Amino acid sequence: MKSLKSSPLLAILLGVIIIAAAISTISVEGRKHHVKKLKPKHRRHSKNTPTVSPAPAPYPSTREGVFDILSFGAKGDGVSDDSKALVRAWKAACEVIGGKLEIPAGKEFMVKPVTLQGPCKEKTMVQIEGTLVAPGKIGSWPKSSLFQWLNFKWVSHVTIQGSGTLDGRGSNWWNLETYQTQTRNKYIPPMKPTALRFYASENVTVRDISIVNSPLCHLKFDDSDGVKVNNITISSPENSPNTDGIHLQNTRNVEIQHSNIACGDDCVSIQTGSSNIHIHHINCGPGHGISIGSLGKDKSVACVSDIIVEDISIQNTLAGVRIKTWQGGLGVVKNLTFSNIQVTDVKVPIVIDQYYCDKNKCKNQTGAVSITGVKYNNIVGSFTVQPVRIACSNNVPCMDVDLMDIRLRPSGGIRGLQTHQQQQALCWNSYGKTQGPLVPSSIGYCLKKSISRYYPKRFIASFHDKICPS
Ligand SMILES: *[C@@H]1O[C@H](CO)[C@@H](O)[C@H](O)[C@H]1NC(C)=O
Ligand SMILES: *[C@@H]1O[C@H](CO)[C@@H](O)[C@H](O)[C@H]1NC(C)=O
Ligand SMILES: *[C@@H]1O[C@H](CO)[C@@H](O)[C@H](O)[C@H]1NC(C)=O
Ligand SMILES: *[C@@H]1O[C@H](CO)[C@@H](O)[C@H](O)[C@H]1NC(C)=O
Repeated sequence: MKSLKSSPLLAILLGVIIIAAAISTISVEGRKHHVKKLKPKHRRHSKNTPTVSPAPAPYPSTREGVFDILSFGAKGDGVSDDSKALVRAWKAACEVIGGKLEIPAGKEFMVKPVTLQGPCKEKTMVQIEGTLVAPGKIGSWPKSSLFQWLNFKWVSHVTIQGSGTLDGRGSNWWNLETYQTQTRNKYIPPMKPTALRFYASENVTVRDISIVNSPLCHLKFDDSDGVKVNNITISSPENSPNTDGIHLQNTRNVEIQHSNIACGDDCVSIQTGSSNIHIHHINCGPGHGISIGSLGKDKSVACVSDIIVEDISIQNTLAGVRIKTWQGGLGVVKNLTFSNIQVTDVKVPIVIDQYYCDKNKCKNQTGAVSITGVKYNNIVGSFTVQPVRIACSNNVPCMDVDLMDIRLRPSGGIRGLQTHQQQQALCWNSYGKTQGPLVPSSIGYCLKKSISRYYPKRFIASFHDKICPS
């Protein structure tokens, strides 16, 4: 301090040095920026694929607004990594109004996990005529992207369509132990990827395509609003674990129609935060049926409402239409209608299980996600274990459960069933009304109709209702 004060010359010198340093930093930043921009081009050239350097910059488009993945350097041989070509073709299509990304027929494109991000200009289309395949070996998946394979994020007004296929190549994932012993691979991935996911998106349509053999769930909508699924095919083996067909989470205003779903878990699974869902003309099975839940795990709040499931055919599944909640949860499931459902060889066609537990035993807890306003109308066909099992919480009864025109017969005739009990409908702590025809007749006296204990219980339900946003 003292020397600075006493020497103005030194102060000036110091100032000059500081300014010089600042200027050199700026120019380094500038150079860095410059290098960064050039880098992708550089990398492309350095790859040992000199013959494929088409890409007249910036966006090769064969027809106006159409961006074929092949013009972005994709090989389409099922082996080469076409991820970058897919992302670049997507970006190009995303940047023009009505842009269309094309995956041509007759070719197989291997892509690693990618995020196709919006927002885009209006109405982007992804036309899939060929096949996209995921990496075959688990070791080829980047360890940091195991959440999903194809991820659409922050998009709106996007349509995916075409007669092509998304193949998740899940077989190695289904039995990780076998995979490990076969490949002597010590690495155990901490999770399994979903095949196709939409995150925080609006007004999305998925139609006509097939999604097969996902490691986990096939098609998932997360935090989204406005979803249409039409005429799609989902297929994975009956014994592939946790391979849900369609998973809705925190997603509103959904229509799923005219589709075939055969998989190893729920055909459609509806999770918390989902409302105004219309599912119709679906063929489901094998699998676990159509499920609301599981909800309320670890005392969490669940809110699911306004769901119509109608004109559905379900065969060879664990459950038909099912609501499953954990003990101890909070919130409400309300205003659900299940109608015109044909079941064939379904273990238990109508299920409400408020004691859901994925282990052998779960701790008994008071409190439950309340269930109110569930209509079952015209559910007919055959079961293999029990026709109806409605097991509601001891503390929070199910209210306004209506069973109308239910006709369920054992698949192998009465003698096919193990016990007399299995032939009967079971209801526990649930209130509502029934209306014939009802087969077996035990459905007719399954629900409680008592009015006297009704009011305090309604109060419980309305308390739970207030936890959820209306
Ligand atoms: C989604 O569609 C609905 C109904 O057509 C419309 O009201 C809404 O504005 C759309 N959202 C966006 C982001 O385009
Ligand atoms: C359903 O999708 C297939 C392609 O997977 C297509 O050939 C057929 O025309 C579509 N049907 C309707 C009614 O759109
Ligand atoms: C129940 O849900 C259906 C379908 O989403 C909806 O149209 C209807 O208005 C809802 N009813 C009530 C009382 O909220
Ligand atoms: C939970 O409660 C049921 C019925 O009251 C009882 O049979 C069961 O043993 C209890 N389970 C535990 C883990 O305490």
